[in-house]
Amino acid sequence: MPIMAARMSELGTESAFEVLARANALQRAGRSIINLGIGQPDFPTPEHIVEAGRKALADGHHGYTPANGILPLREAVAADQFRRHGVTVSPEQVLIVPGGKVTMFFAIMMFGEAGAEIIYPNPGFPIYESVIRTSGATPVPMPVHESKGFSFSADEVLALITPRTRLLILNSPANPTGGVAPKNEVDRLVAGLERHPHVTVMSDEIYGEMVYDGKHVSLTTYPELADRLILLDGWSKTYAMTGWRLGYSVWPTELFPHAERLAINCHSCVNAAAQFAGIAALTGPREPVQHMMAAFAERRDYIVPALNGLPGFRCANPGGAFYAFPNAAGVGLESRALQSRLLDEAGIATIAGTSFGAFGEGHLRFSYAASMGALQEAVGRIGDWLGRQNMDGKTGLAG
Ligand SMILES: Cc1ncc(COP(=O)(O)O)c(C=O)c1O
Repeated sequence: MPIMAARMSELGTESAFEVLARANALQRAGRSIINLGIGQPDFPTPEHIVEAGRKALADGHHGYTPANGILPLREAVAADQFRRHGVTVSPEQVLIVPGGKVTMFFAIMMFGEAGAEIIYPNPGFPIYESVIRTSGATPVPMPVHESKGFSFSADEVLALITPRTRLLILNSPANPTGGVAPKNEVDRLVAGLERHPHVTVMSDEIYGEMVYDGKHVSLTTYPELADRLILLDGWSKTYAMTGWRLGYSVWPTELFPHAERLAINCHSCVNAAAQFAGIAALTGPREPVQHMMAAFAERRDYIVPALNGLPGFRCANPGGAFYAFPNAAGVGLESRALQSRLLDEAGIATIAGTSFGAFGEGHLRFSYAASMGALQEAVGRIGDWLGRQNMDGKTGLAG
């Protein structure tokens, strides 16, 4: 019997991948499944980006690159940060990594150990809690509120900070809720953090360009945080590049060598062709991104009212990303049971709110990165399924 490290039992998972496997198995068995579970754009990577990757391979970029990434890519990231937020970032602070997840893993490994506390959004991206537990640190959930458009409350977050708090994880626009933190709340949080100089902040802004109403407030625009802010960003969502595994982080100068050493220990460097594709994404035409966002906006305008029309459902309008996170408690089933039954009996893959933390109970996550036809069919099937349950008296819906 192999004897594994105890920490292995703390590793959680991302249910989206389990639901994807189950949905695929049902599909192979001949069932018609609409997958609104997995969180990735349903668009191909724009052609000019694919071409840049192809050219890099043809030009012979087959070897290791510097561990922190090729300089023109890090320069393009710095220019992009200036374009988007007007902030000046040195390419020397930019670490190119294989996907957005790597930054959260490195940041949590850097600060997490027994006795330390790390604050993370709940419901939130499930990997935060999983890695915090694995690091030995205590995960401290920070609630996000449906009544506040799924933003955090600055006062509530500040009240969670103790002398043991090492890291505060923020995510706006957010997965799974689509929530966007308003500027006044971020301002108040940053002002309050002045009283807690021992706390480092990791801001996950992977959906930063996916905002429908108002503006994304980047934590990078607060100079008072510059020496303790880790920015997580990447190409996966904005440029429909989830399979390329390309992300980046911006680190305070003091932390950068430690992050780079983690990269050298972990993956050496990101594959060279993907890095060249990343330059094309940041420096090329923006129309493909605008086109994709226009499609997501149209789908959001369809799915939110449509979900609100289902008995037992109540859906807040998500300000960003491509997720709707309706409260379906009125159906009278626990989220996990509702997720399973919608998949098995209606052929609709969604993700239970509890997959994103205990505070997600009562909710389901719908990814609306799917065609309008698929969304219409999905809502229709759920409506029919709810109607059947209602007749059989199997849910808590009023007759
Ligand atoms: C909030 C959030 N952060 C990070 C990631 C990870 O992105 P990547 O696929 O680039 O690792 C995701 C992916 O779903 C996400 O939703």
